[in-house]
Amino acid sequence: MVEINRYWRLDSYPEGQDFASAMNLYDAPMPDIADREVLVKNLWFSLDAGTRMWFTSRTDSYMPPLPLGSPVMGFVLGRIVQSRHPDFAEGAIVRAYGQWADYSRLAPDIGNFWQVPDISDMRQHFAVLGPNGWTAYVGLNEYAKVRPGETVLVSAAAGATGLLAAQFALATGCRVIGIAGGAEKCRRLREEFGLTATIDYKNDDVSARLAEIAPDGVDAYFDCVGGPLLDAILPCMAMNGRIAICGLISTYDQIERKGPVNFDLILMKRLTVAGFFSPDFYFRGEEINRLTQPWLDNGTVSMAFDVTEGLENTLTAYAKMFTGGNFGKTMVRLAE
Ligand SMILES: NC(=O)c1ccc[n+]([C@@H]2O[C@H](COP(=O)([O-])OP(=O)(O)OC[C@H]3O[C@@H](n4cnc5c(N)ncnc54)[C@H](OP(=O)(O)O)[C@@H]3O)[C@@H](O)[C@H]2O)c1
Repeated sequence: MVEINRYWRLDSYPEGQDFASAMNLYDAPMPDIADREVLVKNLWFSLDAGTRMWFTSRTDSYMPPLPLGSPVMGFVLGRIVQSRHPDFAEGAIVRAYGQWADYSRLAPDIGNFWQVPDISDMRQHFAVLGPNGWTAYVGLNEYAKVRPGETVLVSAAAGATGLLAAQFALATGCRVIGIAGGAEKCRRLREEFGLTATIDYKNDDVSARLAEIAPDGVDAYFDCVGGPLLDAILPCMAMNGRIAICGLISTYDQIERKGPVNFDLILMKRLTVAGFFSPDFYFRGEEINRLTQPWLDNGTVSMAFDVTEGLENTLTAYAKMFTGGNFGKTMVRLAE
C-alpha cells in the first residue's frame, strides 16, 4: 500500500478567524528527501498565535507572508523516520519548524531544528522548556526587567506565553496581576497558579480595576495583546515603568494601523517600551532551560495543555487562540 501524506495548504489569506475558508487539507505522496534532509513523522503540533501574521498579505511583519499555495508551516515535534543527514539518525525525536502534515520534510542545516531528549512529558519541549518558555523568561527579565517586590501585569495570562511569564514573575517574588477573558479563566489563574489578582478584560473596566488593585501603578507590563487594552493600561503604569511588547494578538488580522492613543503617557511617565522577538535568542534555549528546569522539577512552574486530537482538527484548535477557547498551551496530537 502506498502511504499518503495529508497536509494543510494555504489557499487564501484568512479573514478574521475564518481559517476553514482559507486552508484546506490535501493528500500528497510521501515526500522524497534530498541529501542532508530528514523525514519526520509528526507526533505533536505546537500552535502559536504569532504565526497568524504569516497568513496575511502584510509584508512588513517579522516574517514575509507565507506564499499562497504553500503547505502551512508551524512548530512540530516528531520522530525521524528517514535520514540523509549524517548528524541525525532515524528514531531521534526533534522539534522544528515543520509542516502541518502527517510528515515533515526538514533540512536541519537551515536552523530552527533541535534534537530533544526523551522526557516524561514531551509537550514541555513546547512549554517551559521550549520557545514559549524562552520568550517568557527573556521578555520578563531582560525587557520588562522585573525585580522582587514589584507589581507585574501580564495580558493573555491564561495563554501559553502569558501563563509562563506570570509564573516566572511569581517565582521572582513579584505581585502578579493577570488579565484574561472570563471569570473561569481568572479563577483558575488565582486558585491553580497562585496569581495575586486577575482582571477579566471582557467584563471589567480594566483601568478602574487596576487603579483599585495597583494604586501605586504597574511597574512592569508583559504585553501579549496590544490594541485598546494597552491604551487602557498606559494610564495605570507607575513612573519609570517598563512595558515589554511580546505580542499584539488583538491586531494580527488587521492591515490598518491604529494607536495607541495614550502614546503621550510614555513620555509623561518616563516609561521604557521594548519589543523583542524570540527567534533572535532561540540559540540561548539550553542556557535558559538550565535556569527554568528546576522550577519545573519542583513544581514552582507548570503548564496547562489544551490538546486537540487529529490533523484534521488543526484549524479548530488554531482558532481557539483567537477566540479565547484555550487555557494554556494549544497543541494537536497526531500520534503516540
Ligand atoms: N515576541 C515573541 O517572540 C513571541 C513569542 C511567542 C508568543 N508571542 C506572542 O504572545 C502572545 C500569545 O501567544 P501564544 O502563542 O502564547 O498564544 P496563547 O496566549 O496561548 O493564546 C492566545 C490568547 O490570547 C487571548 N486573546 C486573543 N485575542 C485577544 C484580544 N483581542 N484581546 C485580549 N486577549 C486576546 C486569548 O485569551 P483570552 O480568553 O484571555 O482572550 C488566548 O488564549 C501572542 O501575541 C504572540 O504573538 C510573541
